[in-house]
Amino acid sequence: MTLAAVILAAGQGTRMKSSMPKVLHPVAGKPMALYALDAAGDLNAAPTVLVIGHGGDQVRTIISNSQLPTSNLQFIEQKEQRGTGHAVLQAREVLRDRADTVLVMYADMPLLQTTTLQKLAILHAQSRATITMLTVCADDSMGFGRVLRDSDFRVTGIVEEKDATAEQRAIRELNCGVYCFDAAWMWDHLAQLTPQGHKHEYYLTDLVALATRENKMIEALVLDDLSEVIGINTRVHLARAEKIMRDRINERWMDAGVTLIDPATTYIDADATIGMDTVIEPNTHIHGATRIGAQCRIGPNAIIRASDIGDACTIIASVIRESKLEEHVRVGPFADLRPGAHLARDVYVGNFGEVKNSYIGEATHIGHFSYIGDAELGAHVNIGAGTITCNYDGKKKSRTVIGARAFIGSDTMLVAPVEIGARAHTGAGSVVTKNVPPDSLAVGQPARVIRKFK
Ligand code: UD1
Ligand code: MG
Repeated sequence: MTLAAVILAAGQGTRMKSSMPKVLHPVAGKPMALYALDAAGDLNAAPTVLVIGHGGDQVRTIISNSQLPTSNLQFIEQKEQRGTGHAVLQAREVLRDRADTVLVMYADMPLLQTTTLQKLAILHAQSRATITMLTVCADDSMGFGRVLRDSDFRVTGIVEEKDATAEQRAIRELNCGVYCFDAAWMWDHLAQLTPQGHKHEYYLTDLVALATRENKMIEALVLDDLSEVIGINTRVHLARAEKIMRDRINERWMDAGVTLIDPATTYIDADATIGMDTVIEPNTHIHGATRIGAQCRIGPNAIIRASDIGDACTIIASVIRESKLEEHVRVGPFADLRPGAHLARDVYVGNFGEVKNSYIGEATHIGHFSYIGDAELGAHVNIGAGTITCNYDGKKKSRTVIGARAFIGSDTMLVAPVEIGARAHTGAGSVVTKNVPPDSLAVGQPARVIRKFK
């Protein structure tokens, strides 16, 4: 069997009521279209065609800039969104004769698991059916199309909820929107679809009735759990999918040896990773491609985005964005590490410490109420309470450099650009406008050197 995939992502997503294309709405921090593409990649479907249309440029950019390998991926535009059947038809020129089986799925189903797709593909290959579709039996219809069967329980068609009679609406078997098609048959018959409903859309689902009419075999893989196949059409569906995805991710990390004190208030994005024996306290948010090492204690009330946290770090009630922490770093409570903060091992940033675009050397302490921005601090520096790097003069940002083992007195204002030499001290409340040589004490406003140690 040679398998190609078509993933539909051109629809406007009207029911989301959003200016952003539906398929870019994130689930666990990752645009939902990427889940479908990941699944197709796991199945080795080649090529995979993503049909884009509404907000197509935005979709293309976000996907091209993601981590996803794109060598097998091709974008095709559906200029006018005239239904799912019309969308698949756009891929005909590219895919015809490239594969004998075409997997079609929609980009609004992020919870679908690769194993289910594999089962569907195997059933399709073994049964030699013309169409093999995924269905689910559920009491909550979620607006899905209903699967019609005849008295011999053979699938005969799919009726969309909005076009269904009251009797058809009572059917519990729903169309998930994932199908394997015999490629030659599908490419020949897509053009035979006729517009349906008040929007005159070409329904992909009508292929099932067409196949029935030609006495072709239609197989169905029937699921009994709706959670994997939620198709996101509204923000309510989005929140439901988010919750299921979050539980799935949390369970994965617990299985990998991470303690979650309260999974219900632990929010870990799909692309984050966490090391063994790390403990995550309640109300912790780990966003983006954050990496957290082993033996850490994170939270309660921590928000970490796109950061790299080394082993054995402790982070309490703090915000960390695009920062790097080496091992044994302690942060918080109430610290704010902004983009470009790099804390070497054994650093301590205590309450109301803010660090931005700065390197903080090994075992340096920034205990209380300090702002360190655009700075480079050596090892074993002590930053007294209330120290500020005055990095901005209203026009430009300037750097502050502090040498190893310097001792910065409480409430020191370091007016950048400025350099404090190794082992130098500043007195409490000093305003430092000039460089302070190593091994010296500077005090006053503005501070001047009054003594040399050596
Ligand atoms: C569709 C199915 C329905 C199924 C449900 C499962 C059809 C006609 N109906 O309904 O039977 O139960 O999915 O979730 O297929 N799209 C395009 N171009 C278009 C229209 C849609 O690319 O012209 C894309 C959308 O971006 C979306 C997908 O196709 O990713 C499905 O469209 P959507 O409007 O969500 O269909 P449903 O109403 O959910
Ligand atoms: Mg849908």
